[in-house]
Amino acid sequence: MAETITLNGATRLVGIIGWPVEHSLSPLMHNAAFSATGLNWAYVPLPVPPNRVQEAVLGLRALGFRGANVTIPHKQAVIPYLDRITPEAQAIGAVNTLVVDPEGAVWGTNTDAYGVLEDLRAHGVSVQGERVLILGAGGAAHAVAYALARQGSHVTIANRTEARAIQLARRLHAVLPGQRFSVIPLTREALATAARSHSLLVNTTSVGMWPHVDASPWPEEVEFGTIQVVYDVIYRPRETRLLQQARAAGCQAIDGLGMLVHQGAEAWRLWTGRVPPVDIMWQAVENALDNQ
Ligand code: ATR
Repeated sequence: MAETITLNGATRLVGIIGWPVEHSLSPLMHNAAFSATGLNWAYVPLPVPPNRVQEAVLGLRALGFRGANVTIPHKQAVIPYLDRITPEAQAIGAVNTLVVDPEGAVWGTNTDAYGVLEDLRAHGVSVQGERVLILGAGGAAHAVAYALARQGSHVTIANRTEARAIQLARRLHAVLPGQRFSVIPLTREALATAARSHSLLVNTTSVGMWPHVDASPWPEEVEFGTIQVVYDVIYRPRETRLLQQARAAGCQAIDGLGMLVHQGAEAWRLWTGRVPPVDIMWQAVENALDNQ
């Protein structure tokens, strides 16, 4: 059911800066939360081409926005134009949430790390001291690897382009020197070996994402070994080929919708200072995906 939002002179604005943004579920999720809590706020899509990022950030302040989310491809590009960023965003190297404070300063943080940890917690998965195998070394991998390492996981990274995996491991080791990071090639042999010593597998690659729903980053004939939980950051489709494989092997299989919801809920909390209605946000994105 669509929520009705009435805009008037007192409506406070937040939005999402990206290119493109029309397929984003965030406007729907955040506006559902504003409606449910009776807050006179609105969340709008803000399509910003790559050569307009600085103007867009400065524009938020000029136009009285309270904040914004930042999505692909601007999560790194916004950083030079911010008044400050949190240590977390600095460590991850990307910003997904901007907050305009009452003095007009724009600061950036990253709620993706919180999102994945909160979703794992909600699913009863503990990560402290566990060995985690992460597939991918892109933007999502940065947030996930940082989040898990900070919680005390031993992180192993496997990526098609191994140099990117090495770079990510080095970067995180510099920020979290007490943690152990390993890099393995994304090959059948290396994955088969790693599957015998890791307990959690997280896919951060785009392999298996709609419309390539038959693809999986995990070779069909490789056993999951000691892996008990498989987390896929993809949520289109909800059940990727990887999650089907995991379920068939008896693993706990978790899709990426919860990470989306919890990163959004944390941004909503930072903007409004209120407790976010997580269930409402969850329902809004779930309904939207079911009706696509
Ligand atoms: P995001 O910000 O969503 O993580 P990204 O930075 O473009 O997006 O990263 C995409 C990830 O998916 C990368 O790890 C990429 O591997 P490369 O670093 O080798 O490019 C991975 N990926 C994309 N397509 C892939 C494929 N067909 N096989 C294996 N890995 C793939």
